[in-house]
Amino acid sequence: MPHTEPTCPDLPTPVMAIESSCDDTACAIVTTGGRILAEATLSQSGHVPFGGVVPEIAARAHLGALPALVRDTLRTAGMQPHELGAIAASCGPGLIGGLIVGADMGKGMAIALDRPFIAVNHIEAHALTARLPGVASNGAPFPYLLLLVSGGHCQCIAVEGIGHYRRLGGTIDDAAGEAFDKVAKMLGLGWPGGPAVERLAREGDPHAVPLPRPLLGRAGCDFSFSGLKTAVAQKLPTEVRAALPRQQAADIAASFQQAVSDIVIDRLGHALDMMDQRPTTLVVAGGVAANGVLRARLQEFATAHDLPFAAPPLRLCTDNAVMVAWAAIETMRARAALGLPIPDDIAMRPRPRWPLSDMAQRMTADV
Ligand code: KG4
Ligand code: ZN
Repeated sequence: MPHTEPTCPDLPTPVMAIESSCDDTACAIVTTGGRILAEATLSQSGHVPFGGVVPEIAARAHLGALPALVRDTLRTAGMQPHELGAIAASCGPGLIGGLIVGADMGKGMAIALDRPFIAVNHIEAHALTARLPGVASNGAPFPYLLLLVSGGHCQCIAVEGIGHYRRLGGTIDDAAGEAFDKVAKMLGLGWPGGPAVERLAREGDPHAVPLPRPLLGRAGCDFSFSGLKTAVAQKLPTEVRAALPRQQAADIAASFQQAVSDIVIDRLGHALDMMDQRPTTLVVAGGVAANGVLRARLQEFATAHDLPFAAPPLRLCTDNAVMVAWAAIETMRARAALGLPIPDDIAMRPRPRWPLSDMAQRMTADV
């Protein structure tokens, strides 16, 4: 979608960002107006034999891939390092080994180039992606309701302003993507499981297998998927699993996907009631947002509540560095509007846990 690039004369541009908080190694260069000059994401394959992300393997893979990825991203943008205005990196929450690799790479560049280094909260980056020019037709003005559904996170967040996020509820056990991955494993579908479950579910009947909908109708908007996962396991006695007929497996996959969608829609209804003000937009982010059935249900929900629905393109829903650059840009811009300087986080240590509630501090003088 074409857009006019707003000029931000006092902000350093463009921003190079690094993402290395889980199992995707990513680098991007984005202007302060939100124009993507280059982006690249490498998904690590070393975890496949283990059926899940192995932190040590992830950290080593980031270390191996990042230097060349940074150089390739610069080449794609047709830029020299000295043409970068600032460097940003995901500094948490996430797997500490990978975060250290990405943050140190970014800090090294910032020191060598004498540019500011901006530490980005990975969840905040997911939360602000919808505001990247061209993503939401209305630009996703504040406040909006965000559903973040990934392999590691499942939360409803009221996005009230830059630095101002209210967690309305979240999972009390597994994340939605984690549940997809575990069900895929039970059905012998490999990892990551979400896309495989969705493919198989196309051949199945979503009403064939009765499954529970934990917390459905309960007050608040917390989620629970572990009982659902156990119920799926109980449909699959160990001795039968290997020889499960394809139709039966497809019915289980479709029924599971239906149950997850029912749970998400019910919880979202409660989240909407918990907003202080009516949201401008319903936004979804995270890898599970790639699920076609869930996306269709979310669109239906938004239409029924007369809300615009924004789902970033798939490559910006899953972990990527464009969102990291954009979060750094939004932070710089919001701080500038308050008369505050560009943050310089060169001394900040990556944080495996970094709650969104800490981000309001970023909008005060002492970063
Ligand atoms: O956001 P993401 O790329 O990484 C993080 O977890 O941060 O999300 C990955 C998760 C995995 O659990 C994967 O199985 C799930 O998103 N996923 C899906 C689909 N595509 C990816 N789940 C359901 N349906 C899909 N089509
Ligand atoms: Zn993520």
